[in-house]
This record gives sequence, C-alpha cells and structure tokens, in this order.
Amino acid sequence: MKKITIAIDGFSSTGKSTLAKQLAQKLQYIYVDSGAMYRAVALYALQNNLIENNELNTVALINNLPNINISFQYNERLKVSEIYLNGVNVNTEIRSMEVSNIVSRVATVPEIRQQLVALQQQMGAQKGIVMDGRDIGTVVFPDAELKLFMTSSANTRAQRRYDELIESGALVTFEAVLENITSRDHLDSTREDSPLFKATDAIEIDNSNLSLDQQFDKVLALVASKL
Ligand code: DC
Repeated sequence: MKKITIAIDGFSSTGKSTLAKQLAQKLQYIYVDSGAMYRAVALYALQNNLIENNELNTVALINNLPNINISFQYNERLKVSEIYLNGVNVNTEIRSMEVSNIVSRVATVPEIRQQLVALQQQMGAQKGIVMDGRDIGTVVFPDAELKLFMTSSANTRAQRRYDELIESGALVTFEAVLENITSRDHLDSTREDSPLFKATDAIEIDNSNLSLDQQFDKVLALVASKL
C-alpha cells in the first residue's frame, strides 16, 4: 500500500492534533505533534531558569541546544505517542499555561527551529506520517502529498482549550485562555522565520461548524484521493 505524508497546519487549538491522531490510527501511520517539540524546549528553558521576568535568555538557550534531547515513545496502554525531554515523560507538563505563555517566543528562534525541523524531517523520511504544526506544509514537508490548513473562530478555539484545561484540573479563566490564543496567533503568524501561513497547495478546513465525524469523513475522502 502506498504511504504518503500528511501535513496539518493551522492556528492553535483548531483541533489539528485530534484530527492527526484519528488519521494516524486509521491509516496506521506515525503521528508527530511538532508543537509538543517546541513546548518541550520551552519547558527546558523554564526548568533551567533561562526565563527571567518573562524574558527569554536566547543565547543561553541556543548554547544549551546540544543538551536538549527530544524523543517520542508510543504508550501502548493509552494508545498515544508521548514526548520525552532528556528521557523524562513531559507530556502533561508541556501543556501548562506557563509553557503556553512562553512557547511562541521560543519558536521564533531560528537556531531552535533548524534543529527541530531537521529532527522532524528525519522522522518523516520513510513517509507514512501525519505531522501537525505551523510550518509543516511550507517548510518541513513542502512535498507532502496532502496538506491541510485548519481554521476556526478564536472564540470556538478558546472554549475548546478552556474546557480541556478545566478538565485536567487547571485553574484558569476563559479570558486568560482567549488572550493566550490570540497573542500566540499574532506571534506565530508575524514572526520572521517560518511564519504560519497557508501553503498555496493546502486545503483549508474550517471546522467552526463541523462535528468531529463530519470533519474526519471529509478528510478521509481527501486522503483516498491521494492513495
Ligand atoms: O500546536 P501548539 O499550540 O502546541 O504549538 C505550540 C507553539 O509552538 C505555537 O505557539 C507555535 C509553535 N510551533 C511552531 O512554531 N511550529 C510548529 N511546527 C509547531 C508549533
């Protein structure tokens, strides 16, 4: 069976990872959450006091890049792939608001992007991969057979993220989540290196009014057209 590369980009909390996981499971492909990799680097910066007064010590973080080892391991019980930072499972920590508040800044640093992009390309070298992020169809896999660009309104996205955070026991307000989402949208799409934009050959999926099943059916039909 022919294996393809599926690149999923879009603003934060548009449901990219939910769709990517569904697809990977159905097609028996590898799933890689590239945002989790930027989050792991941001967590490293927090853990090593490389952020003071909300300012990132970029030089120190770049110098520390050789000490940052990121890998994924499939959790058989939960049926998900989990991220490890220097051998420690950080799947939950990387979703905290502390990390969310600094990650877009970390993702503007070209040296960090180069290192993570190289790792992502290595993971996708054999195809049979679904990767979600901001620059997957434009930079990481410009030749991907299927590129999707996901959108939905900022309010819908903030509500989804807020529900997830509350579910996980976090103490947050809806306003703080909405503010975090809109400021990340801005940083992600205006940064100089690899800003978020829709590749010319990407197919836009606005899921503001689509159920998960409707979205999945729509995308499966797109996948079938590429096999
Ligand atoms: O998808 P996410 O919200 O977990 O991503 C976290 C941050 O990482 C987001 O602010 C943008 C950045 N990111 C990026 O710059 N490039 C990617 N391929 C994935 C994420």
